[in-house]
Amino acid sequence: MARNVLILLALIMSLFAGSAKAGNWNILNVIKQHGGSLKTYCESWRMNVELNNIRDFKVVPQECTAFIGKYMTSTQYRSDAHRAVEECRVYLRSCCSFKGDGKDAWVFDVDDTLISTLPYFKKHNFGGDELNATSLEAWMRKSKQPAMEHTLDLFHEIRERGVKIFLISSRKESIRSYTVDNLINVGYYDWHKLFLRGLDDEYKQVQAYKAEIRQQLVNEGYRIWGIMGDQWSSLEGLPAAKRTFKLPNSLYYIS
Ligand SMILES: *[C@@H]1O[C@H](CO)[C@@H](O)[C@H](O)[C@H]1NC(C)=O
Repeated sequence: MARNVLILLALIMSLFAGSAKAGNWNILNVIKQHGGSLKTYCESWRMNVELNNIRDFKVVPQECTAFIGKYMTSTQYRSDAHRAVEECRVYLRSCCSFKGDGKDAWVFDVDDTLISTLPYFKKHNFGGDELNATSLEAWMRKSKQPAMEHTLDLFHEIRERGVKIFLISSRKESIRSYTVDNLINVGYYDWHKLFLRGLDDEYKQVQAYKAEIRQQLVNEGYRIWGIMGDQWSSLEGLPAAKRTFKLPNSLYYIS
């Protein structure tokens, strides 16, 4: 009897050891075969997230959380976001024949486009822990998110050209007042409409929900000249905008 228990224990332990080794072995093998280091491996992971080749990831791979944390808090991340905003300015110089009839429209995401969730993810392993919607929402209710500084300037440049700004977010309707407070506290104002997810929308894929709102806008006669967002689900789907601008974000994926 005791002997059987021991054998069983040994078997279980070897299974655990085996699975841990298999994980490490995979990455080491990739690095060995293709050269580079853990850093190059994680940078490739990050790049392929941005390219939308890696989709629907639930967590940042454990071996890459330190790397992703370093990137998301780096000058490089801010420079990458700045560059996206600059390219948007280049586009705005000659893109559009704004008619000034109140039907020119621009769309922004909220999180990690206008205001940052980075302070939250700093405390939650930079995307390495599975997202806890309850705790994220509790944090959002504090209305303490900092502005994405480059987007803030762009927001007002577009607004001052007489373009109506629509904010389309996958946040819930129940945190509307906290969202508005937060946006105003950090310098956003005078957007035309803020769309949040109502109870009916929570069953939809975010991409479909956002596309439906754009359809509604098009039906109302709006010309959507552009979208800026940090998630592919904000940029893809029909009706499309004339151009889209993707900000970097390798902390989480919303489909
Ligand atoms: C998620 O966060 C809430 C609030 O902080 C906490 O009570 C709950 O246990 C968390 N859930 C999981 C699965 O960690």
